Amino acid sequence: MTTRSAVPARVHRALTRASEFGFHGACEDPVGPLLATLAAAVPPNGRILELGTGTGVGTAWLAEGLGRRDDARLETVELDESLAAAVRADDWPATVTIHTGDAEALLPTLGRFDLIFADAVAGKWTGLDLTIDALAPGGLLLVDDMDLGRYTDPQHRAAVLRVEQALADDPRLVSARIAAGTGLTISTRRGDLPYDRRDEETL
Ligand SMILES: C[S@@+](CC[C@H](N)C(=O)[O-])C[C@H]1O[C@@H](n2cnc3c(N)ncnc32)[C@H](O)[C@@H]1O
Repeated sequence: MTTRSAVPARVHRALTRASEFGFHGACEDPVGPLLATLAAAVPPNGRILELGTGTGVGTAWLAEGLGRRDDARLETVELDESLAAAVRADDWPATVTIHTGDAEALLPTLGRFDLIFADAVAGKWTGLDLTIDALAPGGLLLVDDMDLGRYTDPQHRAAVLRVEQALADDPRLVSARIAAGTGLTISTRRGDLPYDRRDEETL
């Protein structure tokens, strides 16, 4: 027997926005609950980044994982101004920031993160190094849409293979492939143990 918990209200609203926009890029099970689970594990004063907001489905799952925490921050970046505006108009905690802009241009300006969900072409198929650079020591990177079977275009297949190889070969990372949903790769940035960001501020 399988059980399924209710979709959180904010996720439901983001899925409704996806229908209204005719947007087909929203993250699919099991990514949503996985994002919530990983978000719940970020350290005190942790920082979370999503590349590619879409209609806010992933953002809503990440916010769900943070629950009522007011120490951790969640930032998301969307190139499309109308999508970003629609997501921003929803009811978010003050800890959530929706940036409008190009992920590759913004990445070097945003600082380091304990969890990154790379869900746009920018910062994944191109500029993956910028995304890895933005991971804090012990930080987690979740990349989806890695199942080659989804792609027929040889350039898209080559891009996915490049990402897979880069994540596997990068000495800064420990990576695992998960054959679930649209195909996931999860990587941890090696380094010091995760730290409390307040310690950094008092250095
Ligand atoms: C797969 S969808 C994101 C889905 C969303 N993360 C979710 O969980 O539902 C990819 C999004 O990336 C956005 N995007 C495309 N190029 C971008 C760029 N250069 N910078 C930021 N966002 C970009 C697209 O407009 C699209 O909304």
